[in-house]
Amino acid sequence: MPEGVFTAPLKKPAHVGDDWLEPKQTEYSSEEDGIWNDLFSRQMEVLPGRAASAFMHGLDKLDLGRGGVPDFGRLSEELDRLTGWSVVPVPMLIPDHVFFWHLANRRFPAGNFIRTRETFDYIQEPDVFHDVFGHVPMLTDPVYADYMQEYGKAGWKAMRYNRLKALGALYWYTVEFGLLLEQGEVRAYGAGILSGPTEVVFAVEAKSPNRIMLSVDRVMRTDYVISDLQPTYFVIESFEDLYRQTVERDFDRLYRNLPPAFTYANSAVIDVDNVVHRGTQEYLLRGGRGSGARPV
Ligand SMILES: [Fe+2]
Repeated sequence: MPEGVFTAPLKKPAHVGDDWLEPKQTEYSSEEDGIWNDLFSRQMEVLPGRAASAFMHGLDKLDLGRGGVPDFGRLSEELDRLTGWSVVPVPMLIPDHVFFWHLANRRFPAGNFIRTRETFDYIQEPDVFHDVFGHVPMLTDPVYADYMQEYGKAGWKAMRYNRLKALGALYWYTVEFGLLLEQGEVRAYGAGILSGPTEVVFAVEAKSPNRIMLSVDRVMRTDYVISDLQPTYFVIESFEDLYRQTVERDFDRLYRNLPPAFTYANSAVIDVDNVVHRGTQEYLLRGGRGSGARPV
């Protein structure tokens, strides 16, 4: 994941308007469709039994494995019938206020381009595979779909209080790296986890990371890692619980009391935490990405 998901470059390409939408989706070559298919197959080897059932059902409902990069128009029609969402093409990361505005109107902005064979394993900016495969299946779940809209609505308020970092942490620990309990077992629903082959196994099964029940207040005070596996994941009981915690939260009051910097380190476990698994942090202590440490 790129640095600053919420601080997109402000230099707008000349061909897009204030909504930052591309006039139409890219036409993909057969090579690019092949990249989608290979990424899709690779994920299907690791997701069953680790991904939340809402995600797996979403993949089915939208038939994302029908071959090639999905057509946004067709996807949007199907999503609209299910939850009233649509998928719209954008050229790159877009400015925060525009991103929030689209979410608040139930439009999910998805990167138009797809990675190349050279960047198959790691990309700087989220591409169409991360955005569509990772995010869109969850938008078929009615409660999750409402949560995403509420998140968008919360964005401008966070900007007014200059607490975007805190709201960004909530996105990070839910939409990108969230875990969920299903019949007592941990499953992943975050797009950052589900769109790559390594983190899904690490997040759900490894001994290193902490797994802590989510509290919105706690999460919004917690730092996170941008370019490595997370030292801590937050677990929700259900999407209803996540939605309720978010809409019932008095964000005005929270922002007035939040310090501008994060209070808790990304590997911290604090007294009030309801801990599902206390991590060994072995992966991190051995040096993390680039050190040759195994993600155990
Ligand atoms: Fe994402």
